[in-house]
Amino acid sequence: MIKKGIVLAGGIGSRMSPLTKAVNKHLLPIYDKPVFFYPLSVLMLSGIRDILIVVNKGEQNQFKKILPNGKNLGINITYAEQRYPKGLPDAFLIGEKFIGNENVALILGDNFFYAQSLTKKLKECVKLNKGATVILHPVRNPSYYGIASINKRNKITKIIEKPKKKFSNLAVTGLYFFDNKVVSYSKKLKTSKRNELEIVNLLNKYKNNNELSAQFLGRGGAWLDTGSIKDFYDTSAFVSALENRQGLKIACLEEIALNNKWINKRNVKIAIKFYGKCNYSQYLSTLIKKNHLNK
Ligand code: DAU
Repeated sequence: MIKKGIVLAGGIGSRMSPLTKAVNKHLLPIYDKPVFFYPLSVLMLSGIRDILIVVNKGEQNQFKKILPNGKNLGINITYAEQRYPKGLPDAFLIGEKFIGNENVALILGDNFFYAQSLTKKLKECVKLNKGATVILHPVRNPSYYGIASINKRNKITKIIEKPKKKFSNLAVTGLYFFDNKVVSYSKKLKTSKRNELEIVNLLNKYKNNNELSAQFLGRGGAWLDTGSIKDFYDTSAFVSALENRQGLKIACLEEIALNNKWINKRNVKIAIKFYGKCNYSQYLSTLIKKNHLNK
């Protein structure tokens, strides 16, 4: 069972410069919320309440202005700093103490997931006791992502980071579930030619031990990585279209916490006061109205 999760929200956001010169990409907006609310909401939907957010050196205070410690969401948020973007597995070195003897989920701070039965799928993934699980989703441009091929039994046969030659269209999304070996495996990784610890090398360690399994979002699901300006605005447009059509918000952290029974109306009132007069607060107030229709 996985009870701990890490949101990796560092990096220099080079593809989004100059927007990211002064502000961490994960604090910029995806429609009406900061980017990092979306991956954080995914961990919360999976039932994870103990969360480490990794940010760049000197940036903790900016994040804490929005989310000091998670208390009002019924979760425990701690922050840690990454000195420089050393690669995704660095999360497990920075988070070694946080992880302790437990299993852990990692979500990249710029990943966006929206799918039917997402919560159900996530709850399956967090049942993991041994090995690792990745979530695969088809993409049109495989050379931009970590790519995996699978056999007829859905076992992963090959994983390559940003392959130059196409061998599959299944991207490895930025949501990973690991057993505790992830820490010792990460310690053994060597830096690559681009001077980073590579997530595919870590995943290959599990694959070579026959301990890597795949899950799928399904064709009706949306997975967007908000790394480039175009993806960023496409994701905003997606959220805007859905929220305005349905009147339901995506990644409203207080709503998830309320549904999970981690908080009560009093906490929502505190949140409304904290956010001030805005659309998000207005939405929160509908959640605690007597005749609120949940679904
Ligand atoms: O989005 C899925 C893809 O994410 C996977 O398919 C790839 O296998 C994986 O390598 C990764 O590729 P990216 O090119 O998108 O990685 P990027 O360097 O853009 O970083 C992803 C997120 O992690 C981003 O929110 C910044 C953060 N990050 C990244 C690095 C390298 C950190 O916080 N620290 C880091 O050291």
